[in-house]
Amino acid sequence: MVSLLKVSITSISNNKILHKLLLLSFLFLFISTFSSKNLFAQENSECLECHTDPAEVDVKVRVDHVTGEVEIVSMLVDEDAFHASAHGGEDFYCIDCHADLEDVDLEETEGGHYPNLQPVDCITFCHDDPAEEFLESKHVSLMKENDVQTPTCKHCHAGEKSKRDTPRADDLYHRKDTIEKCGGCHEKFLHSYRNNLHGQVTALGHLDTDIATCVDCHGQHTILHSSEPESTLGPEKVIETCGRCHPGANDSFVKHVAHPEYKNLQYYKSALIALKNIRKDPEQIKSIFKSPQIIITITFILYIGILIQTFAGFGMHSLLIWFGTVLDERKEGKESGHGKK
Ligand code: HEC
Ligand code: HEC
Ligand code: HEC
Ligand code: HEC
Ligand code: HEC
Ligand code: HEC
Repeated sequence: MVSLLKVSITSISNNKILHKLLLLSFLFLFISTFSSKNLFAQENSECLECHTDPAEVDVKVRVDHVTGEVEIVSMLVDEDAFHASAHGGEDFYCIDCHADLEDVDLEETEGGHYPNLQPVDCITFCHDDPAEEFLESKHVSLMKENDVQTPTCKHCHAGEKSKRDTPRADDLYHRKDTIEKCGGCHEKFLHSYRNNLHGQVTALGHLDTDIATCVDCHGQHTILHSSEPESTLGPEKVIETCGRCHPGANDSFVKHVAHPEYKNLQYYKSALIALKNIRKDPEQIKSIFKSPQIIITITFILYIGILIQTFAGFGMHSLLIWFGTVLDERKEGKESGHGKK
């Protein structure tokens, strides 16, 4: 055995090529063991050492590369907010997302790194499924047709304090933010949502997952018009969608008006126009009368009518009584005046 080893060693030392190969592979092993990740071993704590210390980092003025908005951003990381966020678990490293710092040796640079980093890319390494759903949806192509700037992942998923602190889907902040984001582009529907029980309850600050926000009804990344069969509100799926929160929902339950228009002047204007065009285009007024909106609207008008009538009646009554009292007082005053003379 020993002699065999001796033979092989001598044969290696005699064989120059093999010798070099061995040396090279040792060198390779050495480099790969101590290279990039291992040598620089950027634990989150190394980054946080500076990024939680106001003496080390300050604010920075940045231009949002999508919207062009100028924003003042604090470079301080709120550790608690980060750990509470969707990416704050133990398996997440700062350099997973700030990938261009992966190869920076913090020891060599004495902790510093170059100032302007690449924007974080949510899609390439982690979230290509939702990205495909969203970016290839009809909703996004409609935005482009309407010359509307398409929101990025970070616009809808940014935390309260920083874009970094991605809130979880069931987070109350995220649910509120979603209503604002959808409503920012669909003001008319936000307004009518607020006239509906769902919208009124969320406006009061109750944002739990048991009460419907825009996305609970319309879906999150693949949003389709309610008339399309594949839509979460399409004729085939609407019972299932409402049924998640309203067990026992049926055909008549889903006729409920999610976006009541009775406080929208435009609705009355279009009804008036339809009335004017009743000879030319009878279908227009028919469609208005067929929609369940009309029931709410008529109820609203009757209700306002009763209110006006009641208050007008009260008002008239009070006015007459007041008038009578004044007359009486004047009369009495005159009479007592005469008596004194
Ligand atoms: C020695 C202190 C120090 C350490 C350690 C440090 N940073 Fe920074 N970092 C800074 C300073 C200072 C800035 C602000 C640069 C500027 O004003 O342009 C900054 C800025 C940033 C920015 C914003 C860059 C931009 O484009 O606006 C990110 C992201 C960042 N750091 C991430 C990290 C990560 C991840 C680590 C760990 C791998 C880390 N930093 C380690 C000091 C540090
Ligand atoms: C899940 C991905 C992710 C992780 C993990 C992450 N960040 Fe970020 N970070 C972002 C995003 C997104 C932004 C917003 C700017 C951008 O898009 O590049 C950001 C921005 C920053 C900024 C600039 C200030 C700001 O609020 O915009 C600093 C500083 C920063 N991160 C430091 C860190 C540090 C330190 C860690 C580790 C403790 C970390 N980040 C972990 C995604 C992440
Ligand atoms: C118009 C707003 C909007 C945009 C833009 C957007 N999302 Fe979402 N996303 C949502 C909403 C709303 C939810 C669902 C929250 C819930 O389930 O209550 C969600 C959920 C998610 C989830 C949670 C997992 C799941 O599918 O249930 C991931 C991951 C996600 N989005 C990634 C992305 C990525 C990546 C992008 C960019 C390509 C993106 N989102 C763009 C609104 C948006
Ligand atoms: C950046 C602006 C923008 C945001 C944010 C946005 N939308 Fe839209 N949305 C549009 C545009 C533009 C259209 C097409 C024209 C229209 O119907 O107003 C559209 C169309 C729609 C439609 C009708 C689809 C069709 O096929 O006609 C629905 C439903 C809808 N959006 C719901 C939502 C919901 C729910 C959200 C939040 C998750 C949302 N939108 C966020 C701009 C936006
Ligand atoms: C309770 C479920 C529900 C909620 C919550 C809801 N919607 Fe709707 N939405 C509907 C239904 C049902 C329709 C179709 C009938 C109609 O127009 O009233 C609709 C219609 C729409 C349309 C017209 C296009 C279409 O698909 O018919 C838009 C745009 C829209 N909603 C946006 C929003 C926005 C933005 C929010 C949040 C502020 C929201 N919706 C909240 C159920 C809902
Ligand atoms: C995410 C859960 C959720 C979804 C989805 C949802 N709702 Fe609701 N809805 C609620 C809650 C919570 C209330 C208030 C319940 C209460 O106080 O009785 C409510 C109230 C109502 C009411 C008032 C009557 C009542 O039960 O008090 C109607 C009608 C209604 N929803 C219809 C719908 C329709 C139709 C859909 C589907 C287009 C729908 N909802 C989707 C949660 C939801």
